Formats: sequence, structure tokens, C-alpha cells
Amino acid sequence: MSFDVKKVRRDVPQLEVLVREKPWIYLDNGATTLKPRAVIDRVAAYYTNENSNVHRGAHFMAESGTVSYEAARKKVANFLGETDPHKIVFTRGTTESINLIASGLSQSFKPGDEVIVSEMEHHSNIVPWQIVCERTGATLKAVRITDRGEIDLEHLRKLLSAKTKVVAFTSCSNVLGTITDVPAIVKLAKSVGATTVVDAAQSVTAHPMRVLEWDADFVVFSGHKLFAEFGIGALWAAGDWLERLPPYQGGGSMIQTVSFAETTWADAPQKFEAGTPNVGGALGLKASIEWFESHGVSEAIAHAKSLASATRQKLSAIEGVRVYGEAPNKTSIVSFNLDGVHASDVGSILDQQGIAIRTGHHCCQPLMQRLGVTATARASFSIYNTEMEVEALVAGVRKAKEILT
Ligand code: ALA
Repeated sequence: MSFDVKKVRRDVPQLEVLVREKPWIYLDNGATTLKPRAVIDRVAAYYTNENSNVHRGAHFMAESGTVSYEAARKKVANFLGETDPHKIVFTRGTTESINLIASGLSQSFKPGDEVIVSEMEHHSNIVPWQIVCERTGATLKAVRITDRGEIDLEHLRKLLSAKTKVVAFTSCSNVLGTITDVPAIVKLAKSVGATTVVDAAQSVTAHPMRVLEWDADFVVFSGHKLFAEFGIGALWAAGDWLERLPPYQGGGSMIQTVSFAETTWADAPQKFEAGTPNVGGALGLKASIEWFESHGVSEAIAHAKSLASATRQKLSAIEGVRVYGEAPNKTSIVSFNLDGVHASDVGSILDQQGIAIRTGHHCCQPLMQRLGVTATARASFSIYNTEMEVEALVAGVRKAKEILT
């Protein structure tokens, strides 16, 4: 399939918005992607014509809403390379998915057990584990990253033991852009019988998703980084994990029978979807995947990656600019700093030029400590960005250098 960025851009209304009277250049896709018309229209159509609760009503709309909601689950499964939609639980996003898994797995933790995360995790894949370790007496350990910005497999080998219950790690760093060798880490973790949890929040637009090939136990992601709404995401669980894990929240829809003496659970995935779900969000997520696929997933990903790679090259050529992470396999994320300048000042100068990037610790304070900085500037590309926008960013960084140094 040939990739046509102009066609992609025509689908995304927010790209036409002027910021400070200039065409807006949006390079903060790691934080969230813009929404295509197909998603906006699908969500609006649901609330305009189809609004109803799912899995409960006896009427036409409730029935058709349930069918659409379950079709969205099937689409998510298919996008992840899974044939069984019952392996998918809808959640609010990556954070809730990891909390759900940590809560469930920790029911069997005992003092002395260990959980391993990596130094380049987002706080959402550190803090939930810290909370359950504190509660159960288990210990949280961090596997180092190499100077190139990859999970250090030698160090992981040393940390792994019969005490390791869980290895939780990102498949793609939201700061360095490193694409992790997931199967290699899963294989090591499995050699000691540990359960593996993969944070794929940044991966869903970084490479075609094939969770079965990863062989992990759990994979999680958020819809809003995949062109869908906030507040919808999913977790995928291998094998019979969803039968074995206890429920995360109690309430309506997740039960089979309730009495004051005893409650029994609904089958998975309903067991994990207490309360009224984000139906509009799930339908929007289905539309976002269909839109992404309509432009050719592999081609679109290659386009965004090549923009990031050109950016890394051009920024590295500017004296005084440091680009972080040298892993050979990287996605569309570029973190950098200007010597002697705080990242937020670079961000402000770029913002004045209508260029949106993220600055700060990117919810990765341990990684910032490892890099020896408090913050970085981060440009993150998506499938609608262009070479002209790369040029504008590089010119903007040169301008920031002139003004700030
Ligand atoms: N986790 C998102 C980011 O990296 C919000 O910006």
C-alpha cells in the first residue's frame, strides 16, 4: 500500500487550527495523538443516535449498543493479532490496566517475592507495583538500562531468581523511543517462572502488534495514543489468566449472582468490567483502528519513524544539542536537550513558533536520574507529520539556541 501523508492530514481536522496565527505543528504525539474525523464522527453518531447502556437492556438500542461494543472488542483483538475477543478487557487505559493486573497478581505475593521493572519505565509501570509490594512485603527491583538506552539483559539475568514473580517492562520507551526486544525479555523471565507484563502504550503506533509472537502474559495500551478518545484502553491476557485473576472492582455487570451470603463472578472479560463501560470510547477505538489500518499500518509507522530518524540526525548535527538514546531500533520519539538550557525554555521558544512538543520528566523520573538530567525536550511524531515540520522543528531549535545561549 502506498502511503500518502496529504491524504492522512485531510482526515485530521485539528491540523487546520492556527496557533499564534501560524499553522500548528503538533509534535507531542507521545502524549496523545490527534483525532481523525472518522473517530469524532463515530463517537458523535453513537451519542446522537445510538446512546444506550450495554449488557443490560431488553430494548432495541441496548441490544444494538451491545453488538457494537462487542464488535469493538473483536476489532481490538484483531488489531493485536489475537483471534479470541474474550482475551480483551476494556479499561480506562494503560494505567488502569496495570493497576488491575498488579492488584490481581499481588493476591498471591508474599514477603520476599520480587517484582522487576526497568529503569526506563513510565511511572504507571512503577508506582502500581510499588503500592502492591508495600502491601504484601514483596520487593521492587529495577533492571538497569545500558548507555545506549536499552534494557540491560545481562543485568536482568542477574536479578532474576526463583523469587521473581513479575517482570513488567515497556515495549517502547516514551522518552528514548527505544523499541524493546520483548521476546528476549519474556524468555528470560519465563526461565524463572515469572509472569510478564508489557506496557505497549507507545508501541501501538510503533510497530504492527502481534502479541502472540511476544509470548508475554499481559499486554496493555491506551486508545488515546492510537487516535481514539481519552478514557478507553485495553488489556490483553494470554491463556487462562483472565479466569485465574480475581476481579479488580466490584459492581454491576461483573457478577453472575449476588446474595448477602455470596457473590459469583461473570465470565471474563465481563468479570473485569464493573459498572457502565465507556461504550462511546470503545466504538471510537474501533473507528481509530480502522482509520489507522486504512492508511496502511506498516507504511504509516515507517513514515513516522523516518521523520524521527531525520530529526535525530539533524538535531545531533547542531553543536550543543544532545539527543538521548542510541539504540538501533527506535520509534518516532526524539528526546534532546540544549547544553546549559532548561528544556522548558526550549519548549516555550518552540511554542512561540507554533510548534508543540513536551518538556519535563515525561513521568519517568527514575530514567531522568539515570540520564543525569531533570528534564528533556521531546518531539514525538505521528503518521500525519511531514518533512517540512521536521525542518521547522530543527530551525526552531537553532533559534532557541541563538536566543538562550
Ligand atoms: N505517557 C504520555 C507521555 O509520554 C502521557 O507523554
